[in-house]
Amino acid sequence: MPSSRKPQRLVVLVSGSGTNLQSLIDAAQDPAYGAVVVAVGADRDDIEGLARAERAGIPTFVRTVKQFTSREHWDRALADTVAAFEPDLVVLAGFMKLVGEDFLDRFAGRTVNTHPALCPSFPGTNGPADALAYGVKVTGATLFVVDGGVDTGPIVAQAVVPVEDDDDVETLHERIKVAERDMLVENVGRLAREGITITDRKVRFGA
Ligand code: GAR
Repeated sequence: MPSSRKPQRLVVLVSGSGTNLQSLIDAAQDPAYGAVVVAVGADRDDIEGLARAERAGIPTFVRTVKQFTSREHWDRALADTVAAFEPDLVVLAGFMKLVGEDFLDRFAGRTVNTHPALCPSFPGTNGPADALAYGVKVTGATLFVVDGGVDTGPIVAQAVVPVEDDDDVETLHERIKVAERDMLVENVGRLAREGITITDRKVRFGA
């Protein structure tokens, strides 16, 4: 059923190769998707994620922590820049920094992050390596609403991926990313078209 909501404005933040971003850019080509990527930001220069946005004609910006006198100033500048694009939703898609208080004050409840593990297991920046080292038989990816913790927010969706006996970190992460991209596209689309309600950490689609 086509959504009656106007297309939701997405600002996507990246730190690396941007394959998750690319999936969102591709999905948003279809007006029925219900969302458009209006800007892509990064915490570092010269990354493929920014190049993907540029090739798609999407405005980009970079705010590195080093450009600012403190982490708090960086966070405020990042939030100001994101706000200038008037997003309905902010998607952290491989963004390897924690956003701070200022950012969350501005975008609480409308910032989601994708993490390459099944939360609450293996939070942080090494989800696939930590899962492999622990010896789990399944892992996956989690889309969650960002809160003040490290990968602790209310869970929107999860995708499960098997761990194979001969996996190394790279093969496992690549398998996770295949499932992660599908999960991200499907659920960011639903978020845009339907909205969400959060009650006692439980996320349901629908306003
Ligand atoms: C993704 O697997 C994402 O979940 C992960 O980085 C990868 C980025 O891939 N993010 C984190 O680990 C954040 N804690 P991409 O740049 O190809 O989209």
